[in-house]
Amino acid sequence: MKIASMKKIVVLFVSAVMLSPVLVMASGGGHLESAPIDINDKDSLRRGAQAFGDYCYSCHAASFMRFNRIAKDLEMSEDDVREMLIHTRGAKGAPTKIGDLMKVSMTADYGKNAFGTAVPDLSLAARARGADWVYTYLRSFYVDSNRSTGFNNTVFPDVGMPNVLWSLQGLQEPVYKKVMHGDVEIEELEGFKQIQAGKLSPEEYDAFLGDLTNFMVYLAEPVQVERRSLGWKVLLFLVVFFGFAYFLKKEYWKDVY
Ligand code: HEC
Repeated sequence: MKIASMKKIVVLFVSAVMLSPVLVMASGGGHLESAPIDINDKDSLRRGAQAFGDYCYSCHAASFMRFNRIAKDLEMSEDDVREMLIHTRGAKGAPTKIGDLMKVSMTADYGKNAFGTAVPDLSLAARARGADWVYTYLRSFYVDSNRSTGFNNTVFPDVGMPNVLWSLQGLQEPVYKKVMHGDVEIEELEGFKQIQAGKLSPEEYDAFLGDLTNFMVYLAEPVQVERRSLGWKVLLFLVVFFGFAYFLKKEYWKDVY
């Protein structure tokens, strides 16, 4: 390969690496709150699963997940999971089974008619978007009479999803401040002003969303619950094994030195 084209490739690579944080920031829509995630907190995951079943799983599928896997991973009985998550019947009206995937009956066409877009599957949302994005997104709905749903969102402008949690969160309006970027004055989000209280206080609502986001992080990679506990066991094994190996080495070499 010629030196000139090698140089071009290097320049392209370096600029791609340097630009990537800018691109991530651009797609993230500015400042994101940090989601309180603890994948080992089974109580939080169970509360999150309940929230997901109550408020999300009517529109959104999570079709990479099976109900009985949730029962196993979150240490719940299959009956409890059935009560928590299975509200609908399966294909052709047959009862949904505990071993089924978490699909929904809403079709893409129905979604397009109702919301202007097909309702996305949430199996991988927390990985595709990041936990902080999901958490911030769910906090960032605001009242907007120009939208057919009555809601807009600061991290997902003109979103098709209504704020399905408004009865818990209450209603809010964004508050902007003017900041100078060089010579240009731009409006930046300062925060939200509550215009109607919800059933939960802001702290309770954040905790509720924390559990829900935690569950979605689990949903996006269920094996991590197991992987993390396995990781500790492997480390412990290595420490113990190192001890054995060390003394064995001493034993073998003691006659040589
Ligand atoms: C009434 C139906 C409906 C309900 C209920 C609903 N959503 Fe949505 N949601 C949508 C639609 C429609 C979109 C697509 C928005 C768009 O692309 O403009 C969406 C988009 C999303 C996205 C963005 C996905 C992406 O990566 O683009 C997330 C995350 C999400 N919803 C989470 C939730 C959670 C969590 C709940 C439960 C608290 C929930 N939704 C309840 C309709 C719904």
